[in-house]
Amino acid sequence: MKKIKIRPVWLLDVLSFSNRAKQRKKRIEKTKEAPVRADYSINRLAGELHPEQLCLVVRDCVSFEEAQGTLFTLSRKGGGPLPVFEAGQYLTFTFAIGESLLSRSYSICSSPREAREGFYRIYVREGPDSFAAGWIRKNWKSGAELKAHGPNGTFTMRPLRDEKQILALAGGSGITPFVSMAKAIRDGLADFCLTILYGARTAAQMPFLGKLREISEKCPLIRVVPVLSDVRDHDAPDGFETGWIGEDMVRKYMPQGPFSLFFYGPRPMYELACQTAGALGLKRKNLRYESFGLSSDDKANGNGSCRVRVLLPDGEELELVAQRNESLLVAFERGGIAVRSGCRSGSCGFCRCRVLQGEYQIQESEKARRRADSEHSYVHTCVCFPRTDLCVALD
Ligand code: FES
Repeated sequence: MKKIKIRPVWLLDVLSFSNRAKQRKKRIEKTKEAPVRADYSINRLAGELHPEQLCLVVRDCVSFEEAQGTLFTLSRKGGGPLPVFEAGQYLTFTFAIGESLLSRSYSICSSPREAREGFYRIYVREGPDSFAAGWIRKNWKSGAELKAHGPNGTFTMRPLRDEKQILALAGGSGITPFVSMAKAIRDGLADFCLTILYGARTAAQMPFLGKLREISEKCPLIRVVPVLSDVRDHDAPDGFETGWIGEDMVRKYMPQGPFSLFFYGPRPMYELACQTAGALGLKRKNLRYESFGLSSDDKANGNGSCRVRVLLPDGEELELVAQRNESLLVAFERGGIAVRSGCRSGSCGFCRCRVLQGEYQIQESEKARRRADSEHSYVHTCVCFPRTDLCVALD
């Protein structure tokens, strides 16, 4: 019978571990005193893929008057490929309007492949109260130079977490990340089934419908269902649904088998999407969302204003007036205080600061703050509304 040798591997481990400090010391002694190289090619590549700041130029812009939106094509100043991104990510632009220092994020609606070909596309829609979007549509003309950072964002399909079938609920301009996902699937850069319920008031307010239909005709993994909320059944063109995207419509179009529900749109529609996910018994991980605008809860915070004392990182202090129904981030921007921001919906953490005094309200959907943040009064200013006078410290 053959003998099996059991080697004392554990002994080797112990020896190697006990010698580690000696070996490290020897290596340190042998090291020449030379400055650390700053030009490693990996660092150069990282800088190219994730630059601190992007200098972009507007290549062209197409206005959709009925939809009150403009589609911008942006390229790198000086030309060349742009940093890659994942479909669903956004760019954040910083700019000044009068005394206000603003930043706004827009989802990229082009394909990740097109970034390497040298352009991104974003769509800016002007809502009834959108101060920045109106200004952008008027002022960003061909040749305008823009400062941006990103691409950032986690509203992307993660094969390890998300199901291979995605039901997307898009409200108005919330369609943009799904347009990018559809293009990524068409280009062979993503591999999942995407059914999009695309909601808008009227067909004229769906600037991406034609493109999405064209893609879905060629690609069986993609299906698009337009849903009109302001059109009666008998007035709707063929192939359109009418009404609000609620539980019944989701049940009608949801894929067979496991799926993830992705939602992007205005806050009231988000509340409906959450109820629907609950009614369908979806697991928490299978509901992914980003939303914009105020909820009824935020509006209930009331009118009126509060004073906010701001301690800046350089030790300076400023005081500004914040409206109770506007987020602290908006108050900072109006007051000319530059605060980095990204998602503007409480998830990226760029706009985090500490409240030292006073009471505030956190947007209902974002109450799941990290415990350490809650205990030490750190808030994401984009979803934090003042209730009383506040004192806050910016890092
Ligand atoms: S901007 Fe992303 S958390 Fe506030």
